[in-house]
Amino acid sequence: MKVIVTGGAGFIGSAVVRYLIQETDHQVLNLDKLTYAGNLASLQEVSQSERYRFAQIDICDAAAVAELLQDYQPDAIMHLAAESHVDRSITDAASFMQTNIIGTYTLLEQVRHYLASHPRESHFIFHHVSTDEVYGDLEGTDALFTEQTPYAPSSPYSASKASSDHLVRAWHRTYDLPVVLTNCSNNYGPYHFPEKFIPHMILNALDGKPLPVYGDGTQIRDWLYVEDHARALVHVMLEGKAGETYNIGGLNEKRNIDVVQTLCDLLEELAADKKPEGVTQYRDLITFVADRPGHDLRYAIDASKIEQELGWKPQETFASGMRKTVQWYLNNPGWWQDVLNGNYQLERIGLTQ
Ligand code: NAD
Ligand code: DAU
Repeated sequence: MKVIVTGGAGFIGSAVVRYLIQETDHQVLNLDKLTYAGNLASLQEVSQSERYRFAQIDICDAAAVAELLQDYQPDAIMHLAAESHVDRSITDAASFMQTNIIGTYTLLEQVRHYLASHPRESHFIFHHVSTDEVYGDLEGTDALFTEQTPYAPSSPYSASKASSDHLVRAWHRTYDLPVVLTNCSNNYGPYHFPEKFIPHMILNALDGKPLPVYGDGTQIRDWLYVEDHARALVHVMLEGKAGETYNIGGLNEKRNIDVVQTLCDLLEELAADKKPEGVTQYRDLITFVADRPGHDLRYAIDASKIEQELGWKPQETFASGMRKTVQWYLNNPGWWQDVLNGNYQLERIGLTQ
């Protein structure tokens, strides 16, 4: 199959591209604008493969998307390109509305025109990759999010993702576009951009900086190792039923404060020799700071549908995934140092500091 992955230079998209190239025989075209969150260094392991191509395109650019579809003739599109960071959506929502809503609309329309001019006998699927945040948040012991949970997004980010989900379902019902949707919980693992909670804490700790926990740190997230998510996504793209939605999660509900403490303990074990001057224990760096406005209290996914219908289950436990993640950041300082000092963006235009 020829698969277009939008957002393939991002955290999850790059895991999907690596998985498709390393574990399957499919061809991949990575369509990515390369915003601040896109980093081709995350694809170094696979970028020499003759089954891999890259096109720097904005999903809002209808003409460029149309031309690429005609040129590549994909059998599937896995749509991950998005603005993804909740804090950024609170301070400046414009790019979230543009990429997540208008960009998804643009892709849907161009795929509709492409399919109309290329009647196909074979399978085609538009796989829209979304988030559990569209369901809003849970309180206390509320039941887990299922595929039937009503939408109630809280942040500009999650509202824009919810809008994109509605567009995808509307294009299925009105135009019979073959679509499948997935809504996943919080991912973590290698190549995670350092603004996000887990890598932010690991890298601040290694630098002896405070570990800023929002509010009282009792908010709960349901963590899934990114390679488990990538495997689930490819499974859904290949086997998922058109028109269906599958929730994906790790059954790993953890309070933020417990996650930071776990990270500190792993660093004590794996990076005792890297402890910055003046730091006695990594845990001493934990600092409570002002809460995120509108902060969702708890997310938790019921992933029984994908498990029962498609046979997917996570392979990593929280303990094994966190250990691998911390070890990856310790082993790959070149990747994150280039991100922190901005070189990863200069390298794109042939410059380094
Ligand atoms: P990310 O921010 O790491 O990567 C986003 C990628 O999209 C980047 O490579 C960026 O350059 C690209 N992009 C942004 N705007 C674009 C545009 N206009 N045109 C083309 N490319 C563009 O995001 P991520 O964490 O890898 O998330 C990927 C997808 O998965 C998103 O749709 C997100 O909503 C969803 N999701 C993320 C998580 C999570 O925990 N990170 C969980 C569930 C779902
Ligand atoms: O649930 C899926 C979502 O998970 C995805 O759709 C989003 O794209 C992804 O960014 C993530 O959203 P969160 O807001 O849950 O992730 P973030 O890493 O920003 O924060 C995780 C939790 O940690 C959240 O409760 C806020 C808190 N936090 C975050 C940061 C960056 C802190 O306490 N301190 C921090 O410095």
